[in-house]
Amino acid sequence: METIVISGANRGIGLELAKQFLNAGNRVIAGCRNPANATALRALAGNDLLTILPLDVAVTQSITTFCQQLSHETIAVLINNAGVMGGDKQGMHEMDYAAWATTLAINTFAPFQLATALLPNLKRTQRPRIVTLSSKMGAFNLPMHHGTYAYRSSKTAVSKVMQVLAWELESEGVIVCPVHPGWVRTDMGGDKADISAAESAAGLFNLINSMTMEHSGRFWTWQGIEHPW
Ligand SMILES: NC(=O)c1ccc[n+]([C@@H]2O[C@H](COP(=O)([O-])OP(=O)(O)OC[C@H]3O[C@@H](n4cnc5c(N)ncnc54)[C@H](OP(=O)(O)O)[C@@H]3O)[C@@H](O)[C@H]2O)c1
Repeated sequence: METIVISGANRGIGLELAKQFLNAGNRVIAGCRNPANATALRALAGNDLLTILPLDVAVTQSITTFCQQLSHETIAVLINNAGVMGGDKQGMHEMDYAAWATTLAINTFAPFQLATALLPNLKRTQRPRIVTLSSKMGAFNLPMHHGTYAYRSSKTAVSKVMQVLAWELESEGVIVCPVHPGWVRTDMGGDKADISAAESAAGLFNLINSMTMEHSGRFWTWQGIEHPW
């Protein structure tokens, strides 16, 4: 049994990850903005292995408080899942800069803050893993796309942040990987997307369980295939 921390665990991929790690007998510490309204997550709460804590990753103090509450915990895996697509106006002719800044705070800064704050807890385990839901939409190799500047730049940045963190933590045996979960049928991915949240989470579950230092500092898909940066 391992302890897994998941941000944004109340719906979408995060909720499915929580389910699958719980079903495999792990402890899950699920962070979400409004635990009282997190109906689907709370429905799993009959499970003694689940702890639900408030966490708004757009708010630095909320992340600090969340991590302080976990100070006694030994954490094997941190999954930075919480994310936003960004505002409606993120095109060449129309940009909402405040929304872009919030997108960066949620998608880029928060994963770094959570990872560094929980490092002491992670280092108490044999095989600590920091896994961050990035996206191939932030990869430089994806050609010929337009718009969604806020989302794409936040994911490019978080992939780079995790690559640097992987290098810095290599000597301490901490595995750090950005991952692409596929195009997933969630509120974010929409109903035309390729795969269900359960399929994405199942792939990520296998990948996370199999991760070694060989994986660290590299970008992976939910199928366990290395993705070009
Ligand atoms: N779906 C896809 O096709 C796809 C593809 C590539 C990458 N991804 C990435 O995968 C991750 C999960 O995506 P998803 O499809 O499951 O998205 P989703 O269905 O929109 O769910 C997003 C989750 O993030 C949480 N969240 C957003 N802002 C937050 C904040 N400030 N504090 C705490 N939690 C917050 C949401 O909580 P609330 O309910 O409180 O809003 C929700 O639980 C994201 O990082 C996304 O960028 C998704």
